[in-house]
Amino acid sequence: MPLSDLGLIGLAVMGSNLARNFASRGFTVSVYNRSPERTNEFIKEFGNEKLVGTFDYVQFVRSLKRPRKIMVMVKAGAAVDGVIADLLPYLQAGDIIIDGGNSHYRDTQRRSKELVASATGGKKIHFVGCGVSGGEEGALHGPSLMPGGSKEAWQQIKVYYQAIAAKDFSGRPCITYVGDNGAGHYVKMVHNGIEYAVMQLMAEAYQMLRVVYKQTPQQIGELFKKYNAGKLNSFLFQIAVPVLTRQDELKKGFLIDAILDRAGAKGTGQWASVDALERGMSISSVTEAVFARSTSAAKNDRLKLSKLYRMLPTKGGSTLGGKKFQTILENALYAAMISCYAQGYELIRKAAAEEKWEVNLAEISRIWEGGCIIRAKLLNVLHSAYQKGNSKNSPLLAVPGIVTLIKKHLPELRALVSFAGTTGVSTPSFSTALFYVQDMTTERLPANLIQGLRDFFGAHTYERTDRPGSFHTEWNQRTINN
Ligand SMILES: NC(=O)c1ccc[n+]([C@@H]2O[C@H](COP(=O)([O-])OP(=O)(O)OC[C@H]3O[C@@H](n4cnc5c(N)ncnc54)[C@H](OP(=O)(O)O)[C@@H]3O)[C@@H](O)[C@H]2O)c1
Repeated sequence: MPLSDLGLIGLAVMGSNLARNFASRGFTVSVYNRSPERTNEFIKEFGNEKLVGTFDYVQFVRSLKRPRKIMVMVKAGAAVDGVIADLLPYLQAGDIIIDGGNSHYRDTQRRSKELVASATGGKKIHFVGCGVSGGEEGALHGPSLMPGGSKEAWQQIKVYYQAIAAKDFSGRPCITYVGDNGAGHYVKMVHNGIEYAVMQLMAEAYQMLRVVYKQTPQQIGELFKKYNAGKLNSFLFQIAVPVLTRQDELKKGFLIDAILDRAGAKGTGQWASVDALERGMSISSVTEAVFARSTSAAKNDRLKLSKLYRMLPTKGGSTLGGKKFQTILENALYAAMISCYAQGYELIRKAAAEEKWEVNLAEISRIWEGGCIIRAKLLNVLHSAYQKGNSKNSPLLAVPGIVTLIKKHLPELRALVSFAGTTGVSTPSFSTALFYVQDMTTERLPANLIQGLRDFFGAHTYERTDRPGSFHTEWNQRTINN
């Protein structure tokens, strides 16, 4: 029997669809799953000469061309370590393991280290941590792929992965080598953080339209459809239309009204937020989106408190009425989304500097143009702006084309946030998106007062504007009561 080009372990929804995607591009794939029934089911349903079922690691490994290229698509965490440990005795130097799950980048860094020759009895196994976005449909028809880790391995696997990836706006594959060790999984984590923020912006826009403007889900769906035909064109706006307009099959009315307002999370938004906090960076729109999901989860408490307070949202000033509001909202969404990207990209820049990854933000923008959940026309705008600005790694807010866009639409974002403040509808992600741009573009922030206070109560010292060094003032404690 001829040997397979690739091996794939883990036949849940993502692994099955990726295996089928590889096979549909003409590659032969040997598959393996811990529970053999799943392998049998998969082969029964999709098996052909390109998809080969195997039932133990010996059979699996022997069925692969060398160097072996093995993609692991199992539950992130301990399962990945378990699979690697079980596989290792059968592998040879030069073989490649590609973890395509949502692994934490610190785990990917650890695994990259553990698979070097000294730790594996002289066998140098290449390890690639590959972010995969696009859900089950993306996995089957073309995901956005963010591989990081062994560059040598990347040279050997790229022909396969470029073939299955989605296409960007120019028809190039949505994949690029992101950087060493955990860089691919890091960028995927930030992608998911931005996804949280964009979805929260959409939810806040929906709530304004629903509560303040008394729009029906159908009307909001139609407005989002209009937005999707313009500069907000994106996968998330596209799928929001059916989500908003679908009729409930179990009772009369829109399904959206029957869906409980308690948002779930798998944790990558939290990972991104914690990582930003640890690196001393602000991704406040992402973090607010995570907090908003946590608040939504406290449904029972909210229910009780809403009865106690009965603070029904009030309609704000009349200046933002009707059609005008729809335009302001569209432009505010656009500016806020750019702000979310700017926050995420700054986090990537900081991490890249600290972890010594050579990340190219123009390329990251490009590979997010297609296949992934945040794919959007805006990403092509960011990619083009980086190219025209002749820069691949500067802060997004400093790229000339983006400066123009922000200057144009920031007043509308400001108008929306101040209007929202009068309505009783909360807009945490819109607000932080505005504040992030405002603060990052403000020469003098009030942190001088914070430094003065810290020095007063804790002798924490401060720097001065007019000379270098660290200063402490003997503040007169007696002034406290004056
Ligand atoms: N679902 C998505 O939209 C999506 C998108 C991007 C990335 N991801 C990531 O891709 C990976 C796969 O996702 P998924 O949704 O297809 O599957 P999943 O539900 O995360 O994991 C199920 C798969 O993992 C295997 N598995 C679990 N524990 C194992 C262990 N200890 N040893 C060996 N195999 C084990 C299962 O085998 P059994 O059949 O034997 O239980 C099954 O094949 C995950 O890391 C996920 O976070 C998912």
